[in-house]
Parts: sequence; C-alpha cells; structure tokens
Amino acid sequence: MKNIILVGFMGTGKSAAGKKLAAKLDRDFIELDDMIEAREKMSIKDIFDKKGEPYFRQVEKEVVKEAAKREDVIMSAGGGAVVDEENFRNMKNSGIIICLKASPETILKRTKNLKTRPLLNVPDPKKQIEELLKKREPHYNKADFSIDTDNLNIEQVSEAIIKNLS
Ligand code: S3P
Repeated sequence: MKNIILVGFMGTGKSAAGKKLAAKLDRDFIELDDMIEAREKMSIKDIFDKKGEPYFRQVEKEVVKEAAKREDVIMSAGGGAVVDEENFRNMKNSGIIICLKASPETILKRTKNLKTRPLLNVPDPKKQIEELLKKREPHYNKADFSIDTDNLNIEQVSEAIIKNLS
C-alpha cells in the first residue's frame, strides 16, 4: 500500500494524529524530525542553534528522500519540509499527501508552551505564524487533500483522514 504522509504547519497535530492513524491502520509510524535528530545526534533546537536552518533543511531533504523509499508507513513531516520542490516530489511519488490545517490562533495556543520549535521562539510568535503560513499556503495546498483541525480532537482528525482515504 502507498504511504500516507502528513504535512502542515507546526501545531496542526501531525504527530499525534499520525500515531493514532498508524495504530488504527496497523502500520508503522515515522516522524521525520526524529530521524533528523537521530542522524545528527542532536535536538532540532540544537541543530538550528549550532548549525543553522540551511543545514537543517539539507539534512531534512536527505531524510525525506530516505523515508520515501519505505512502503506501507504513515509519516509526519516537519512543517517546512513540503516547501522544497524536491521534497514534495519525493513525497508525492511515495504516497498520499494529507495536509492538516489550523488557524494562527489555534496554532499559537497549541505551540505556546513548547520551546522546542526554534522558528516560533521569537518575540512575536503570532506574527511569525501568520507570515510563515502565508508563505507556505501554496505549498500546503498541493496536498492531495486537507483537513481543518481547529475544532477536532486527535481521534476526530484520524477518523477524518480515514474517511477521506476511502
Ligand atoms: C519546522 C517544523 C518543525 C521542525 C522544525 C522546522 C518548520 O516540525 O521540523 O522546527 O519549518 O515549520 P513540526 O511541524 O513537526 O513541529
């Protein structure tokens, strides 16, 4: 079976929904950010701090390429992965791309207490969320389908994905 690849902004529930979906469909779950951390033996935050975003994006690209070789898995990609053309092509060739969406307000609420996301560790995270969302919107819209998660819990998101797949 084709892979299922969850994309979308930080805080849209990709990891939690992906894990739930994998359990329901009895498939393996792959978190691309975890692969990056394992490969670099460093947290995402430290990679950004010590090596910079361009380096992170390079490792992310290699990891997307590698993960795309798998079959029958559910994957969650970091929020910026789909912006890169080559990443999008590799994902598209390996499966169905599903974008999870949420409003800036919801994203802010869901990411507020987490200091693990370097891109949102700025003086005005709301503004940053709005600007990044605007820039990334055209890329997110290339997904095979999208789910608005604003008013859904994780169980409901995973059910909505299954419904859309069938
Ligand atoms: C990023 C999202 C993060 C992580 C990194 C960059 C982004 O993943 O890859 O901090 O550019 O949106 P999550 O979307 O899983 O938080």
